[in-house]
Amino acid sequence: MLRTPLLAAARSPRARTLVEQFPPTRAMVRRFVAGDYLDQAVSVTAELVGSGRRISLDHLGEDTVDAAQAAATAAAYEELLGALAETGLAGSAEVSVKLSAVGQSLARDGEKVALDNARRICEAAAAAGTTVTLDMEDHTTTDSTLAVARELRADFPWLGVVLQAYLHRTEADCADLATAGSRVRLCKGAYQEPASVAYQAKAEVDRAYARCLRTLMRGDGYPMVASHDPRLIRIAGQLAEWTGRKPESFEYQMLYGIRPEEQQRLVDTGATLRVYLPYGAEWYGYFMRRLAERPANLAFFLRALATR
Ligand code: FDA
Repeated sequence: MLRTPLLAAARSPRARTLVEQFPPTRAMVRRFVAGDYLDQAVSVTAELVGSGRRISLDHLGEDTVDAAQAAATAAAYEELLGALAETGLAGSAEVSVKLSAVGQSLARDGEKVALDNARRICEAAAAAGTTVTLDMEDHTTTDSTLAVARELRADFPWLGVVLQAYLHRTEADCADLATAGSRVRLCKGAYQEPASVAYQAKAEVDRAYARCLRTLMRGDGYPMVASHDPRLIRIAGQLAEWTGRKPESFEYQMLYGIRPEEQQRLVDTGATLRVYLPYGAEWYGYFMRRLAERPANLAFFLRALATR
């Protein structure tokens, strides 16, 4: 019930001003975001790597309004990848990129600007000795993101891409991408989507996720199981067993700050576990999507408001 208004607020400049100026927001944001700055991201990465986790770092930025801002985001990723190489963390930490942050939504040549900037980031990742995964945003961008991914994979075959199980199209996309060398991060999907393109009921999304996962696990690619859902994590383990996958031929992925004990439990079983770790000053959209996923997060936030 609260998901729709929260996701609408994620796109509202007025709500953004209100939430950003509310002092307790900061403490809550720090549960999900490493910090505003690169050195904070590197230090949280080092700490998590020390506990056996792998990392995918996201430099937060959405709604890029001009080419200069898109280029600045690409430069921030280059700096991040340089820092990962310098600190010896590139073997355990990759980066995740939202194409909207590097220009995809610009009215003029958006896809081309995003492709050029993403290419810069892939080149920096190759130099650092790590990989890149493209995040997936709302359904109007899916074709464009997959087209950019196809083009980049010609030069960077290790490039990963996110697919969202709630979209009706995704089972077919999983079948297309379950090929040798491909890396697919399967998530449920975090945006407000119409019934014409996406399953609406949680049970339907969960069933679609399990079907997509089966396709990926049976295929020849590298499945990345991005979910905190205990049932789906169990199913992933069973599918891996039935398809004869070893711990290094697929991985579990979770968001920073969510179910940390389960993250550690998976690491302790010998599984590969990667944490998606965002950092940067543009945390608003990311934070609101995390609130929308779980009413308890919102309750916590509202309690802080009431006790002020
Ligand atoms: P579900 O929402 O059913 O949650 C299962 C359980 O996990 C909950 O009962 C709770 O215990 C815990 N949990 C889940 N969310 C929580 C939260 N916010 N706070 C506290 N506890 C929570 N989406 C997208 O559209 N595009 C993308 O590119 C990505 N990328 C991405 C990368 C990675 C590594 C992950 C893990 C997720 C994404 N997502 C995403 C987000 C994804 O689509 C989805 O919204 C969330 O992962 C929540 O879905 P679950 O599969 O965890 O199940």
